[in-house]
Amino acid sequence: MSLTYSDKVMDHFTRPRNVGEIINPDGVGEVGNAQCGDIMKVYLRIENNIITDVKFKTFGCASAIATSSMATELIMGKPVDEALVLTNKAVAEALDGLPPVKMHCSVLAEEAVKSAIKDYYDKNAILYDLALFADLGAHDDHHGNGDIVEE
Ligand code: FES
Repeated sequence: MSLTYSDKVMDHFTRPRNVGEIINPDGVGEVGNAQCGDIMKVYLRIENNIITDVKFKTFGCASAIATSSMATELIMGKPVDEALVLTNKAVAEALDGLPPVKMHCSVLAEEAVKSAIKDYYDKNAILYDLALFADLGAHDDHHGNGDIVEE
């Protein structure tokens, strides 16, 4: 079975934006999908509560790379709390959709951003509602990043 991807997905897959890493990031998050084994890492530079730079590294499928790329574009220059409510659905919509069997790939992008923001909050002793990150633990059982779930 071959999948049909939108032009935007193909564009972001073949020319991903913001690939790389940030040295000494203000927040970094890594998440993975236990089923396919794909891994996504997001680095954030945050100044005065604004995301001034974001980079990613994704070891994964075309949809994972395209959604990582689009997610970084969507949060660049945004306040942290706005980035925190970015949903995988919004990322997929910005890419003009994903094939239904590939929607789970976009979840990785949402979670990688959230995980990096949580790291920023933790590093800076910023208080937050644990419920904001409740989803992270549910999908985060295979790569051993033990600080994702807090009691
Ligand atoms: Fe693993 Fe797409 S198949 S993220």
